[in-house]
Amino acid sequence: MADSGFISSTRAVPAKGDVPRHIAIIMDGNGRWAKKRFMPRVAGHKRGVDSVRETIKSCIDRGVEYLTLFAFSSENWRRPADEVSFLMQLFIRSLEREVKRLHENGIRFRVIGDVSRFESKLVAVIRDAEALTAGNTRFNLTIAANYGGRWDILQAASRALAKQSDSGEALSEAALEAELSMSFAPEPDLFIRTGGEQRISNFLLWQLAYTELHFTDTLWPDFDASALDAAIASYRGRERRFGRTSDQLKDAEAQGPHA
Ligand code: IPE
Ligand code: IPE
Ligand code: MG
Repeated sequence: MADSGFISSTRAVPAKGDVPRHIAIIMDGNGRWAKKRFMPRVAGHKRGVDSVRETIKSCIDRGVEYLTLFAFSSENWRRPADEVSFLMQLFIRSLEREVKRLHENGIRFRVIGDVSRFESKLVAVIRDAEALTAGNTRFNLTIAANYGGRWDILQAASRALAKQSDSGEALSEAALEAELSMSFAPEPDLFIRTGGEQRISNFLLWQLAYTELHFTDTLWPDFDASALDAAIASYRGRERRFGRTSDQLKDAEAQGPHA
């Protein structure tokens, strides 16, 4: 049976570390950051790139292994055409400017989402960056672009079903998980959304099943190392029960990591 190789939170109990192994972030609030300063919305997106750079560095310094950032949702096409176009150009320019540094720092870069709708220049820059960094293992940076959680589950289900077309078996969680666009990573331990909204906005719907959620009013361009530390501190204080009782959890901890 196909398996991603990572522990699924609904089929086994993952270990809890002090530092989240995988952090997933909805980077929200760029437009409001700019509006507060009487600047055009896109100025907020531009400043948001600095927060991305700082967050990558802070995550590496703290021992996080996977960082997944929601940059453009499948619903963001509904925005004004000039804002969409600015975001695409910003993505191209930022990637062209940063790819060498990502590679020198041992960062593996990936994009998840349906990139087929992007202009060919952007697709080429993405594919080149993915190829250049494919051998890196120190840190995994994933950008979700034209990504939607429902799209991901649907495309995974279609592919998994096609693979077992004549077997007559029911589709299993493991077979579906192996086809999800994040099958290369463990499920996120910590989810952060900046900008004050408390919703998932069609991000990693399948993978967030047991992720600890942290919502902050900090706008994405203001998100810095201390804001990240506050999120990690909140994560450390959580009791991750994965369906068990608090007493069971304490017994398991007393018996050691393999109980
Ligand atoms: C998040 O900031 C960036 C993207 C969705 C691309 P927003 O642009 O959503 O900023 P607000 O929410 O309008 O402040
Ligand atoms: C979510 O932010 C998507 C990204 C950050 C890329 P939005 O600003 O688009 O979300 P909604 O529309 O407020 O839910
Ligand atoms: Mg927003």
